[in-house]
Amino acid sequence: MIDRCGRTITYLRISVTEKCNLKCMYCDPDGENCVQEAEATLSPEKIEAIVRSMAKIGIKKVRITGGEPLVRRDICDIVARVASVEGIEDVSMTTNGINLKRYAKQLKEAGLGRLNISMDSLKEDRFAMITGGGRLNKVLEGIDAALEAGLVPVKINTVLVRGINDDEIDDFIALTKDRPLECRFIELMPIGPYGEENGDKVIPSSEIIDARPDLVYLKKSDKGAPAEYYRMKGHLGKVGFISPMSHKFCNDCNRIRLTSDGKIRPCLGNNGEVDLMEVLDHYPEKLDEFIKNIIYNKPEGHHFGEDYTSSRHMNRIGG
Ligand code: GTP
Ligand code: 5AD
Repeated sequence: MIDRCGRTITYLRISVTEKCNLKCMYCDPDGENCVQEAEATLSPEKIEAIVRSMAKIGIKKVRITGGEPLVRRDICDIVARVASVEGIEDVSMTTNGINLKRYAKQLKEAGLGRLNISMDSLKEDRFAMITGGGRLNKVLEGIDAALEAGLVPVKINTVLVRGINDDEIDDFIALTKDRPLECRFIELMPIGPYGEENGDKVIPSSEIIDARPDLVYLKKSDKGAPAEYYRMKGHLGKVGFISPMSHKFCNDCNRIRLTSDGKIRPCLGNNGEVDLMEVLDHYPEKLDEFIKNIIYNKPEGHHFGEDYTSSRHMNRIGG
């Protein structure tokens, strides 16, 4: 499906819950937003119905996010239903990894292909400070379990914040030495109060790359993906950079988002949303056409850097 700006849309990100078992400083600094579930949270059946419609108009990749997807007890059912839809070639998940050890094998059996894991520090105390009390060890065990279950590649997402975790950049790069990991540094985005008020703490990717001549650029294999990849000389894994603040990648964007309360949000950095529930519940025969129209009208680009306030915190968009 090609949108009005000529972009081919193939990638759907589904936030399956607003709840999270961590309270990260840039996502939910007061710890209030991540504890409650939206009233209209989509059932596995409804998620499957929406994905079926999406697949008919060209969606091939689905990423399951949250909140934290692994707080939903029916998560394996959701994965299995999405993976069973004809036309869906890649099912992945973004998780904080806390519950991963318990689920890795079951997720693989349900049809999950790969995982991205958020981890912003390799120091126990600092990890707890950033996440509002999270235990780093659980995430590290989760990464081991994911690799063991064959959920590869495992990508590690690290949001860099100046003065908070920028002294750990080389420690993260070192993780890629002997394991098939992709460590990705993300520029802090102005979504939620912390990002909005701390624009001066964004670390431009170029600052990291320019200081490390041994990082060798790798040609981009997926044009629509936000990350640019490098390999540290002699390392097995890769180092990625996601730079929404210093390099707008909207022209190549291939994705749309479904919120856990049943709204399509075609752009992460634009507050436009369309509710699917009425059509899904009362006029299911019109769902395909309805979705097609929303995707066609995806906004041209995000509003970061302008006078923009996100209507949802990250826990309600899914990153
Ligand atoms: P793959 O490339 O499929 O592995 O996934 P991904 O990198 O798109 O997904 P992930 O959930 O790991 O997201 C990593 C970072 O990229 C997060 O900080 C997201 O918020 C950011 N991101 C993902 N999609 C977009 C987008 O469309 N626009 C912007 N500005 N940022 C995005
Ligand atoms: N800026 C950049 N990345 C963010 N994430 C959450 N909030 C922000 C933000 N304000 C990241 C998470 C997760 C991914 C889905 O989005 O760390 O890895």
